Amino acid sequence: MSQKDEKSTAQQIDLTDAYAIKTPEDSRRLYATWAESYNETFIEANKYVYPHRVAELFVENVPNSGFEDVIDIGCGTGAVGTYLAKLRPELSIDGFDISPEMLTQAAQTRRLDNSPVYSNLQEVDLTSALPNKTYSAMISAGTFTHGHLGPETLLRIFDLVRISGWFVIGINAEHYKAHGFAETMQTAIFAEIISEPKVYVVDIYEPTSPHYGDKANICIFHRRKPVS
Ligand SMILES: C[S@@+](CC[C@H](N)C(=O)[O-])C[C@H]1O[C@@H](n2cnc3c(N)ncnc32)[C@H](O)[C@@H]1O
Repeated sequence: MSQKDEKSTAQQIDLTDAYAIKTPEDSRRLYATWAESYNETFIEANKYVYPHRVAELFVENVPNSGFEDVIDIGCGTGAVGTYLAKLRPELSIDGFDISPEMLTQAAQTRRLDNSPVYSNLQEVDLTSALPNKTYSAMISAGTFTHGHLGPETLLRIFDLVRISGWFVIGINAEHYKAHGFAETMQTAIFAEIISEPKVYVVDIYEPTSPHYGDKANICIFHRRKPVS
């Protein structure tokens, strides 16, 4: 069996493979193989606590009235939506992801009352045309990272949130630095598209994880006026 064939088995996929992604097609291919075992071989095995932190910071920062519908960007198997639904059961949560296999897993997630976590799940390549929908808030973990989505996509998706709506967006801290997220945010702030963000630096993994030490910047801000 070649090294490439060995890597195609779900058990052996790891963070190195995820960070090696270069194109949306690479993402589709990797997550098609990984989807069924992702919760076990990535979330549980690596003690990945990032979705919890993003959901908690959403609850701490976003007012609990006037925010009914939330879009989870790169929802994957549904970790962020599941925590958010526990903390704010009144919210309707939709999920966008490029991988139909990851969306199939997200569709199986349930709230405490056994209803589905997500009201709508949609296959979307966020680097391409966006759905013609708007939301009162956006949440995301693990999608603005190495090989995945960059600052140019972040700038485009501001349009998915209505004026005065909120963003709670996690961005891998190294990726943030390497790809000039700060400059993109500054441009959008200067153009009065978004407010100045509050930035929390959080651990992506628990202290006993092999990846402990990796950090994310969770940026919290609101929408001001339409892009363009
Ligand atoms: C590391 S996973 C994070 C999933 C989930 N948010 C979590 O924290 O477990 C990254 C997700 O981004 C999605 N993704 C990658 N590129 C994308 C794109 N161009 N458009 C939409 N989703 C994308 C992948 O399919 C994958 O589900």
